[in-house]
Amino acid sequence: MTDAASMATRLYVAIDTQDLARAEQLAAAIAPAGASLKLGLEFFSAHGPAGVAKVKAKAPASRLFLDLKFHDIPNTVASAVRAALAVAPYMLNVHAAGGPAMLRAAKEAADEEAAKRGIARPLVIAVTVLTSLDDADLAAVGQTPPAADQVKRLAALTQSCGLDGVVCSAHEAAILRALCGPDFRLVVPGIRPKGADVGDQKRVMGPLDAIQAGASDLVVGRPITGADNPADAARAIAEEMLGKMAS
Ligand code: C5P
Repeated sequence: MTDAASMATRLYVAIDTQDLARAEQLAAAIAPAGASLKLGLEFFSAHGPAGVAKVKAKAPASRLFLDLKFHDIPNTVASAVRAALAVAPYMLNVHAAGGPAMLRAAKEAADEEAAKRGIARPLVIAVTVLTSLDDADLAAVGQTPPAADQVKRLAALTQSCGLDGVVCSAHEAAILRALCGPDFRLVVPGIRPKGADVGDQKRVMGPLDAIQAGASDLVVGRPITGADNPADAARAIAEEMLGKMAS
């Protein structure tokens, strides 16, 4: 794989829609760029695993991040993880706030079920603190602010339970990279390439800055899905991730 192709696999295009035809069309449009796909609660609630399989079929070589953020008792999360492996995700996630037993159960279920199905074991990562929560929100749910300390605490917990990484803001990437070492995946949304609309994201970072801060994978939605040519937009971001500005 070339540098550019391997960087493209670390770019997850957020397909946030309830429209199955639109999701299929986006997956097909992005596939030639070699970028990966992210499907989340919005699409999954509308179309379930059958819909995910249909979208994936439009980009068979692309990796899939199933962003369902499981958070429940360990037994239920383990069962949900097993069921989710029917669509062979490359990566899936849970909430770190579910606690150590839940985190370990998710990881074990993913490993066992992948072996049973004869597929690659998916990466299991955790959400630490939703970036929509500020210190006042944390206090409101009885957690001790500052949010940055809670992010570090939950990232360390996630790693100690054997999971593969966390979702985090680009602004947390440097500190988590130092805390968790080089092999821990830091999956970062809130990315905007040069000149792109910020939309409702409050604290954005460019692709190269995020990679240099320690991100291993980026999640980008509207700057790609809203582009006239999504494959070109994805390629340009992969180039930016590599530090080569697209002309
Ligand atoms: O369109 P945009 O690039 O803002 O999409 C970002 C994607 O990343 C969306 O799917 C959004 O739900 C997700 N996300 C985020 N911020 C987080 C966690 C996930 O924007 N903290």
